[in-house]
Amino acid sequence: MAIRNIREIGDEVLTKKCREVKEMNDRTRELIEDMLDTMYEANGVGLAAPQVGVLKRIVVIDIGEGPVVLINPQIVETSGSQTGGEGCLSVPGKIGKVTRPNYAKVVALDENMEEYTVEGTELMARAICHECDHLDGKLYVDMVEGGLMNIEDYEEEDTE
Ligand code: NI
Repeated sequence: MAIRNIREIGDEVLTKKCREVKEMNDRTRELIEDMLDTMYEANGVGLAAPQVGVLKRIVVIDIGEGPVVLINPQIVETSGSQTGGEGCLSVPGKIGKVTRPNYAKVVALDENMEEYTVEGTELMARAICHECDHLDGKLYVDMVEGGLMNIEDYEEEDTE
């Protein structure tokens, strides 16, 4: 188990497009384990490889229903919309209102490099979209409606 340093906004690595994973090896397996450890340690619901400084198309998500590992994820379907507070471990202490699809379906490889499909609504859909954006160097702060706020100042509105 190893906790990796989470890169924060302003770090160039967060703005780069990540490369596809071509094969599974010990180094990548260790990266995935460390990403999970790092996400849980930080009480996050998702983490993308560039957030620990690695430009590979890997994300991990756990919205409280167990770990989901997505390698080379591709969002193949979305529908609906949701508007709500969103944060990021790379933007500590901040939150902003972001509109996302309310449903997302993603095709990805698992840790054995086998293709599978993950779908989710609400928080899971939001996490899938947010984490996949990281792989293309995009941060949620550029999608915020009404400005970024400090977490302690934010009040959830009944918009959903
Ligand atoms: Ni993030």
